[in-house]
Parts: sequence; C-alpha cells; structure tokens
Amino acid sequence: MSGRLHYPAGMSAPEPDPQRMEAVVALCKRRGFVFPSAEIYGGFRSTYDYGPLGVQLLRNVKEAWWRSMVQLRDDVVGLDAAILGPPDIWRASGHLATFTDPLVDCRSCQQRWRADHLEPAEDGKVHCPSCGSTDLTEPRDFNLMFKTHTGPVAEEGSVAYLRPETAQGMFVNFKNVLQTTRKKPPFGIAQVGKSFRNEITPGNYVFRTREFEQMELEFFVPPADAPKWFDHWVDERHRWYVDLGIPEDQLRIRPHDPEELSHYSAGTSDIEFLFPFGWGELEGIANRTDFDLKAHAAASGESLDYFDQAANERYVPYVIEPAAGATRSMMAFLVAAYDTDEIGGEARTVLRLHPRLAPYKVAVLPLSKKEALTPLAREVLGLLQPRLVCDYDDTQSIGRRYRRQDEVGTPLCVTVDFDSLEDRAVTIRDRDTTEQVRVPIDALGKEVVDRLAG
Ligand code: GAP
Repeated sequence: MSGRLHYPAGMSAPEPDPQRMEAVVALCKRRGFVFPSAEIYGGFRSTYDYGPLGVQLLRNVKEAWWRSMVQLRDDVVGLDAAILGPPDIWRASGHLATFTDPLVDCRSCQQRWRADHLEPAEDGKVHCPSCGSTDLTEPRDFNLMFKTHTGPVAEEGSVAYLRPETAQGMFVNFKNVLQTTRKKPPFGIAQVGKSFRNEITPGNYVFRTREFEQMELEFFVPPADAPKWFDHWVDERHRWYVDLGIPEDQLRIRPHDPEELSHYSAGTSDIEFLFPFGWGELEGIANRTDFDLKAHAAASGESLDYFDQAANERYVPYVIEPAAGATRSMMAFLVAAYDTDEIGGEARTVLRLHPRLAPYKVAVLPLSKKEALTPLAREVLGLLQPRLVCDYDDTQSIGRRYRRQDEVGTPLCVTVDFDSLEDRAVTIRDRDTTEQVRVPIDALGKEVVDRLAG
C-alpha cells in the first residue's frame, strides 16, 4: 500500500518544515495552481481542483512522463482503459479481498484512523490524534475501493468499482495489445489516468487524496529477465525526476521490507522525495511476477500467455511495474522548485521549475499599455504561441510583471519597448539569472526554443 512515510533504522526523520509547505500551498491558491474543491460550499473532504496554472503544470508532468516512457521508446505502447470496472476484475486481481487498510474508530469523537499510522504515546497507550481518548476500537479491515452501480437499479448484478489503480486495464488488455501491435516481450503498456481510493486519512495537501492521477507502466518480460529489468526501471525512473530538476539529495530509493509488500509483489523499491513533512513515496517499482496475468487467465478462461516462436516456448510473462503518482509528483516538483532570493534589494519568490514543466514557457510583456506597442507585442505573441504556451500581460509596472512571472515559474519574459518599434528587436529576460539580452524579432523563435532546451 502506498504513501506511508518511512524512516529505516538508523535514519532519523528529517526536521519537518511546515513553513515551506504553507508557503507553497499559499502560492498555489494565490496564483491559481490548486483550489480546494467545492470551496464555495466549504470544501469537500480533501479533494482539490487544478486551476489555470495547475492544470497546465499537471499536463506537463504527464506529458514529460509520456514522452520518456512511450514517445522515446519503441518497446512501449499506450492505452487508455475504462475507469469503471466489473467486480470480476477486482476479484481476480485480489483487490476485493486484500486492498484494505486497518481502521480504528475513536468511540469518543467518532473519528476514524489508520491503525498502522498510530504510535503508542509515552504512557504506552494509543491515543486518538483528534481528541486524545484511548477508547479506540480494535482494528478492522476497510476496503479502499469506491463501489457504485451501473444503470438505474442498485442491485447485486449492477455493482461496479472505480479503479484504485490504472494497472488492471493493462493486464486485461494484454492479449488485445499483443495481437494488434506485433510487440513481444520485453515490451510495455503505459497509461495515465485517474484512480480512486477511499483513503481513511487523506492529507498533506495533494499528497494523499481520494481522487488522484497515476502514471503507470506494465512492462512484460521473460521471467528469467525480471531482475535485470527491475534494476533498469529503478534507474530510469530515478533519473527522470533528477533530469526534471529534483535535487538528488532530496530523493532516495527504499526497498520494501517483506511484510510491507503488496499482495502481488515479489519485490518493490520506492522512489521517495523529501517533502516538507518528511520522506514520502513518489513512485513504486514492483516485480509483480506473473500474478496478474495468471489470475485474470484463471478467472476469465482466456489464455494470457505468450508463445516465443524462436525458442519454441510458451510462458506467462513477468511484469515489472513503475507506478508513479502524477498529482503527487506535481507537488514534489512544486516543493523542490520553490525558492526565495533578493533582486535589487527586493525579496522575490521564484519557482525554479524545469522549462519542460513550467506552465508558461514565455510571457510577452509590452513595456507599457500605450496603444502604440500593442500591435507589435501581439505580433510577437502570435509568433511564439503556435509553438509554446505563452502568457500576455500588459498590466502594472514591468518590475511587478517580472515578479509575477517569476512566482509562477515562467522561464523567459520577452519585453517589447518603444525601441522595438524602430529596430524590431525585443529583450529576453531569464527567470533564474534575471539577465537580459536584446534579440531581433526575426531570430526570436529560435533563440527562445534554444534557451528553453538549454
Ligand atoms: N499499480 C500499483 C500501485 O497503484 P501504489 O504504490 O499504490 O501502486 C502508485 O500507487 C503511486 O500512485 C504512488 O507511488 C503515489 O505516487 C500514487 N498514489 C497512490 N495513492 C495515492 C493517493 N491516495 N493520493 C495521491 N497519489 C497516490
């Protein structure tokens, strides 16, 4: 089960940094990254909406994942499977029986807690974190899947579940993909999409929510090659976070203890990030063996094996699964990018997001709102917009507009001034160094693209 915070023996928990967390959360609200869901009704149970900048950032995280996992590989294909599924899938996958967390109720204040998150206090007793009572029920298993009904009649035959992981869509489509793509192991099926878990204790902002997005790859391999591919994917996935700007010393790889493994896993390593509240899982890489394909084959009666003609051998592939959270990764990228410094004696907040992730790549800023500048500034915007997501801002002083763009992580600002009308050149300002260079408009497209790539 995902999402616990772990501190292996000998390693103490890092100091929590609630102020950094508060600053990021406040910025997300103030600048339109993340809003509490149904806020005008007082919010809704740890659900969140992604605002104009948040949706762009989240898309960029998912696109960066898709680019590295599907686009740049010839051994992975994509899939977008249904969110609603019949009980058959979840019975075979083991989720109906085992996708549970141990839950305790506080008899005093009626709050519910995950038993494995509660530690005994100095008096040796477990207290309710809300009211302090020790009058707690014995732990009981609580299934995390959201149950619903399809069609107008709520009866046993119409039961359906919202998927708690995207993975099962890949397993039940294994044969379809094999038959339609001419792929053979080792090959993978990748999917990005929403998953739903009725978490007992959601929290830490978008770290653990009941509705979230996952980015999962199921990589099918000959059984003997599973250890090699497991190592490959741990390395690849760690590198992905580093390449997109997460400092290496804020990441660690933590193998699961045997008693911690999910019911399907023969071995899992988590990639964890040092969140302001401690180490937390971003992604798990699991060796799911042939558990899922065999389970679905047995339950459906369809054979889900592979015939290797060259070796004249039939086998059920093993699966190596790198399973990441898109919303949780987005939060990690935001936390890692958040910075403050001083420019010309003035404090500034800056999101040092990787250009691939930044919601806006370029902001086009006419120096003043004077009408004379508008046509050229719009022309510059029109030049860049087909290739890059841009912002256009002509309100307030240029200094304030630079600060606004820094705060949302825009790597480059392009300023159109009165000289531009004469020399058809503009000024590019770099978010991180604040350095400015003058560039002819004719060369602007290439210069901007080179700088963003560089
Ligand atoms: N298919 C395997 C699987 O789902 P998991 O470790 O339970 O494994 C994979 O989930 C990733 O999904 C986690 O590493 C985490 O990033 C994300 N995730 C899981 N539960 C989440 C939740 N309640 N809220 C946000 N992200 C979550």
